[in-house]
Amino acid sequence: MVAKAGRTENQLLPMRVHIRWMLRRDMNEILRIEQDSFELPWTEEDFLNCLRSRNCIGMSAEQGERVVAFMIYELHKRKLDILNFAVQPDFRRARVGAQMVSKLISKLSGHRRTHITAVVRETNLQAQLFFRAVNFTALRVLRDHFDDTGESAYLMRYRLPMSEWARENLEEEEAGEPADE
Ligand SMILES: CC(C)(COP(=O)(O)OP(=O)(O)OC[C@H]1O[C@@H](n2cnc3c(N)ncnc32)[C@H](O)[C@@H]1OP(=O)(O)O)[C@@H](O)C(=O)NCCC(=O)NCCS
Repeated sequence: MVAKAGRTENQLLPMRVHIRWMLRRDMNEILRIEQDSFELPWTEEDFLNCLRSRNCIGMSAEQGERVVAFMIYELHKRKLDILNFAVQPDFRRARVGAQMVSKLISKLSGHRRTHITAVVRETNLQAQLFFRAVNFTALRVLRDHFDDTGESAYLMRYRLPMSEWARENLEEEEAGEPADE
């Protein structure tokens, strides 16, 4: 691949994807992306169990006829929680992940659902750099978070920019009700 000025060799040019609800027929491609992305991948059963729950949503990103990325997230009253998120290795660094995050951000609303969270393994530097690049910040360290490896994690959060009055309202509300994080 020819490197462009200011870009490293493993970066592609931005590639437009179509992001839509995940379908049952996407499962084979999604399982392949999952296996190519994680040392301890979810199984088909893990995906199906998760998607059966009422507040869990799956979305696929398509390039032509091909599924090149997916995300699974949970809806909460005040936030969206990313549970699984991956881009097929050949399509990384082409802004596909960034487009999926934009899609999630478009689902937030200044009055109600105001933030997105993701738990990122402490060894997953590429995901940490990615979430930082799309305006997430590391909120706290979750010690020994993962049962499988005992690894710690960073809780990363995107927060919708708010006007001062909205922020004050939210702080008052947050003081009066338990956080849903
Ligand atoms: C993390 C992941 C989803 C990023 O997806 P992506 O489509 O490659 O990301 P984008 O192309 O949208 O990247 C946007 C910006 O994030 C940053 N970024 C993304 N991947 C990066 C990497 N490997 N190293 C450094 N910065 C990176 C860059 O700033 C990038 O912008 P640039 O390419 O213009 O420099 C992808 O690498 C992946 O699927 N990883 C394996 C699965 C995973 O770890 N998922 C997250 C679980 S919490």
